[in-house]
Amino acid sequence: MNVVRIAPSILSADFARLGDEIAMLEEGGADWVHVDVMDGRFVPNITYGAKVIETVRRVSELPMDVHLMVVEPEKYFDDFVDAGASGLTVHAEVSPHLQRQLTRIRELGAAAGVALNPSTPLTAIENVLQDIDLLLVMTVNPGFGGQQFIPHSLEKIGRARRMLDAAGSRAVLEVDGGISRETIAQCWRAGADTFVAGNAVFSADDPRSEIGALRAQCAERA
Ligand code: DX5
Ligand code: ZN
Repeated sequence: MNVVRIAPSILSADFARLGDEIAMLEEGGADWVHVDVMDGRFVPNITYGAKVIETVRRVSELPMDVHLMVVEPEKYFDDFVDAGASGLTVHAEVSPHLQRQLTRIRELGAAAGVALNPSTPLTAIENVLQDIDLLLVMTVNPGFGGQQFIPHSLEKIGRARRMLDAAGSRAVLEVDGGISRETIAQCWRAGADTFVAGNAVFSADDPRSEIGALRAQCAERA
């Protein structure tokens, strides 16, 4: 298993030049574009919705990984898939009917993801392992870019890896928050394969080459 996917988050992009920023990500070899949707209720911040998804889709064919940090995420599934989302990730904390939501996302033809906040145990998803295409282990409390990686996330990533393997799941194991040249390799060694990076890419001196630099940190699994 040698896949390493880098999924830059446009949360840290310059929105006055969004088309150029996406082109830069493509030139840099980004695997996915990560789109953070926030509603000011599940998280204390507000971002964007279908219009931005549509805009990204207009300028790029890269898979679009849409992270829904919103309450009642099901209200947006149809619109976001129509707008061009490739995958939708809902938070377990706001989804009492998680299995139904994940099934609905798949019915719409998108990849079904579930995200866990740092304080949410893995047991929250142990009954939906067959229903997910992606597990997102948050490595910061969601809401803002540029936060510090929470070091004890590593142990959780390791347990998540073992949980997916034991269930025979081929789900992507993604991490999000504080991913940098310093933290990415540890997450990779712990078993993650997909890395969201906002600040690390967009604040780099050379954002285009930073994508490859991040990937290069994962060259060997210890
Ligand atoms: C955090 C978002 C992240 C964020 C990551 O709430 O879900 O995707 O953009 O940003 P960095 O990489 O700057 O921590
Ligand atoms: Zn995110």
